[in-house]
Amino acid sequence: MKIGVPIEIKNNENRVGMTPSGVFELTKRNHTVFVQKDAGFGSGFFNQDYIKAGATILDTIEDVYAAAEMIIKVKEPIEKEYTLIKSHHTVFTYFHFASSEALTKAMIKSKAVCIAYETVEAEDGSLPLLIPMSEVAGRMSIQQGAKYLEKPIKGRGILLGGVPGVPPAKVLVLGAGVVGYQAAKMAAGLGAYVIIMDINMKALRYVSDSMPNNVISEFSSEYNIRKHIKDADLIIGGVLIKGAKAPKLITKDMLKEMRPGTVIVDVAVDQGGCFETTRPTTHQEPTYIIDDVVHYSVANMPGAVPYTSTMALTNVTLPYVIKLANEGWEKACENNAPLGRGLNIVKGKIVYKEIAEAFDLEFEMA
Ligand SMILES: NC(=O)c1ccc[n+]([C@@H]2O[C@H](COP(=O)([O-])OP(=O)(O)OC[C@H]3O[C@@H](n4cnc5c(N)ncnc54)[C@H](O)[C@@H]3O)[C@@H](O)[C@H]2O)c1
Repeated sequence: MKIGVPIEIKNNENRVGMTPSGVFELTKRNHTVFVQKDAGFGSGFFNQDYIKAGATILDTIEDVYAAAEMIIKVKEPIEKEYTLIKSHHTVFTYFHFASSEALTKAMIKSKAVCIAYETVEAEDGSLPLLIPMSEVAGRMSIQQGAKYLEKPIKGRGILLGGVPGVPPAKVLVLGAGVVGYQAAKMAAGLGAYVIIMDINMKALRYVSDSMPNNVISEFSSEYNIRKHIKDADLIIGGVLIKGAKAPKLITKDMLKEMRPGTVIVDVAVDQGGCFETTRPTTHQEPTYIIDDVVHYSVANMPGAVPYTSTMALTNVTLPYVIKLANEGWEKACENNAPLGRGLNIVKGKIVYKEIAEAFDLEFEMA
């Protein structure tokens, strides 16, 4: 199969859909890979690395789309890319269709096959192509939180791990899923005193069994949250209720109970945020302050660490890319149920119920 890897043109997106190692795996299997010139640059991969792995470098995005049957990307196509996608293309990328009617309609019109990373779903209901980005964001939330706790950027001026003779900071983590677990692990590693909350007892048991002694698990309730926010230095929001907006666990009135310079990082911002005062921010301007509380709520946190994020993402997408290349989309999706659940729009028809429902459009079974 002829596979194309275009450069990501969405603002500030430095990840790339395939690493040289992925190219090597595909060319080894007699597939042809076209990589757009400098597509890997933002993630630390050079044209020469791709050429050595067997890729052909093409100059423009138009060249890549024209040469390829399957396109491997990271972000959803933006308007400029809509007309490049044609009926002979299979596109495998994050789409997040439910949040864009324009993209949904453009992909229906293109008659391409659109397989979305975010709906590839394993038998146990987990989302294998979302987990790595949550791992990155969870770990990064502590790195960012630690930075914004510094006084010159309006934080409380406390070091997460303290020093001998001075107690460490207190970190409150809401949610003990992928984001919360990774956040708690990083904070604990730096020596902070960590409280992690969830309503899922299985998640709390796992935390309790596997974390070091400076991590305490506690059932999530308004009463318990109010108790801890008074002296927490850093609060991480990592809750998710599948298919729904995040519950507002920290309300505006609670900010007044926090100490000035407390930092709150809402990783769940992409689901509406789990703090009432959250609004999406960017890597250019990641924070804002309300009632002396520093808010960090960047919606695409992994974008700031493209080297790690690209590798983490492509590690999990590559096995599916190989299946699609070897078998073609129809057979690959038929033979592999998790991949089949990734089918969102096929040849002009919406085959994923929630997307059709989001825009009151027609749905057809895949
Ligand atoms: N900002 C970013 O760049 C970025 C990156 C990756 C993920 N995310 C987002 O982070 C959020 C968390 O993702 P995840 O992969 O950890 O999800 P997850 O499903 O693994 O974990 C969510 C946890 O929240 C818990 N929860 C639900 N209601 C709760 C409550 N009232 N109190 C405490 N815990 C509660 C659930 O039981 C679950 O354990 C999602 O919204 C995801 O989209 C954002």
